[in-house]
Amino acid sequence: MDNQFVAEESPAAGVGEQPAEFFSLRDIHAYYGESYIVQGVSFDIRKGEILALLGRNGAGKTSTLRTIARLDNPVLRSGEIWIEGRPVHAMKAYEAARAGIQLVPEDRRIISGLTVEENLTLAQVAPGKGWALDRIYQHFPRLAERRRQDGVTLSGGEQQMLAIARALARDIKLLLLDEPYEGLAPVIVEEIERILHEIKPLGITTIIVEQNAIAALRLSDRAVILDTGEVAFAGTAREVLDNAELRHEYLAI
Ligand SMILES: Nc1ncnc2c1ncn2[C@@H]1O[C@H](COP(=O)(O)OP(=O)(O)O)[C@@H](O)[C@H]1O
Ligand SMILES: [Mg+2]
Repeated sequence: MDNQFVAEESPAAGVGEQPAEFFSLRDIHAYYGESYIVQGVSFDIRKGEILALLGRNGAGKTSTLRTIARLDNPVLRSGEIWIEGRPVHAMKAYEAARAGIQLVPEDRRIISGLTVEENLTLAQVAPGKGWALDRIYQHFPRLAERRRQDGVTLSGGEQQMLAIARALARDIKLLLLDEPYEGLAPVIVEEIERILHEIKPLGITTIIVEQNAIAALRLSDRAVILDTGEVAFAGTAREVLDNAELRHEYLAI
């Protein structure tokens, strides 16, 4: 199957019915070259919800986030991605970013040679203004303290905070976090959890991918578990926390 997407003026035209949900993935299939990786993933998220996207190493979590952000690889060959009735599947990466989709990749991509504040103000140059510096510093007091420091001299936890703050400095609707707690001490994980709790009621919707499934589930409303590129479970975070068998089978915890 080689389904080419065409940008349509009317989102509903030719690509199926517009979903009522804030964000919707419908049967997405994505490939790296001939490697078939994301094998028909579907789920919905309501505005302001946090969804934990879980699964073993290699399950396809990063690939799913990259597909949503419309990066060049993996290639989305079929399926639909909708945000507020707009067809993300027909967008390029810069258009998805303009539509409010911001990916914080695992490596955080802090720009070296720029201070914390320069990293943030650079993000604000993007079309559609996001949070003002004052507002960011209110939620990220550690970044306020280090505003004049080179971004790459921050600790791992502070760099993660900066990467999240930089996403908020853009006009954001959907935050995609790829393993934000990786390599961080529990006390820093708790601080990032507190920040994510704080921003939740401000109308930002989040998909969090984490190996630390318990921490992600504590924060999340809903959970999707991937297994070899397919959805093995979709339900509430509570259901996963309460289901030892499910956790053992797919998350090895
Ligand atoms: N650039 C790539 N080219 C080919 N295969 C890839 C590439 N990146 C990831 N994969 C493969 O896709 C599968 C899913 O990877 P990934 O989405 O990174 O999983 P997860 O984030 O759940 O650990 C793995 O089998 C991985 O080897
Ligand atoms: Mg990954």
